[in-house]
Amino acid sequence: MKLFLDTADVSQIREVLEWGIIDGVTTNPSHVARAGRNPHELFPEICRLVPGPVSLEAMGLDADSIVAEGRTLARIADNVVVKVPVMKEGLIAVKRLAAEGIRTNVTTTFSAVQALLAAKAGAAYISPFVGRLDQAGQSGTELVSEIRTIYRNYGYQTEIIVAAIRHPMHVLSAGLIGADICTMAYDVLAMLYDHPLTDQVMQTFLEDWQKVPK
Ligand code: E4P
Repeated sequence: MKLFLDTADVSQIREVLEWGIIDGVTTNPSHVARAGRNPHELFPEICRLVPGPVSLEAMGLDADSIVAEGRTLARIADNVVVKVPVMKEGLIAVKRLAAEGIRTNVTTTFSAVQALLAAKAGAAYISPFVGRLDQAGQSGTELVSEIRTIYRNYGYQTEIIVAAIRHPMHVLSAGLIGADICTMAYDVLAMLYDHPLTDQVMQTFLEDWQKVPK
């Protein structure tokens, strides 16, 4: 499974690249706002740093605007993936961008039929927002499972990016279902390393090592 970092914070990206476990980055408008930097400088810097796909979001609301914005974003670097919302105008744009060889990540996805439409339009990636669906009282994991089944049934090549991940159990279920990618914030990625028994055993080993005659 590939792991992406969900951020527009360059210092986080630099640090996590050192960990050697991430394969790409996803950004969104909220991350960019928090970074507090001009996207014209920020986006090329992120694309230079990351040796994998970088999702940058198009903010237009009609297909023509999304296509125009997508073309501009795609010119930043070869590793740009244009993030497009799953609405009708967005999927019209996805079809047109795909015809030009521009890869898209269809985002804000909350149903399996939305994911079906995105695949038919030629999306390279689909991003179901599992944590937000859980918060709304539905199962994010069930959604990922449904999308995996539909894509497998019909041979769609669109890769599933499990997004809005809140904790390691989301990553575990994504892996068991066979999702292609999980994208998550720095804090959640850091949680994946932790287990209380690891700390406990390490503590015992360190204490016992002090008793070894040296
Ligand atoms: C994914 O591509 C999105 O940027 C992200 O996962 C959104 O999740 P949020 O609910 O943490 O904002």
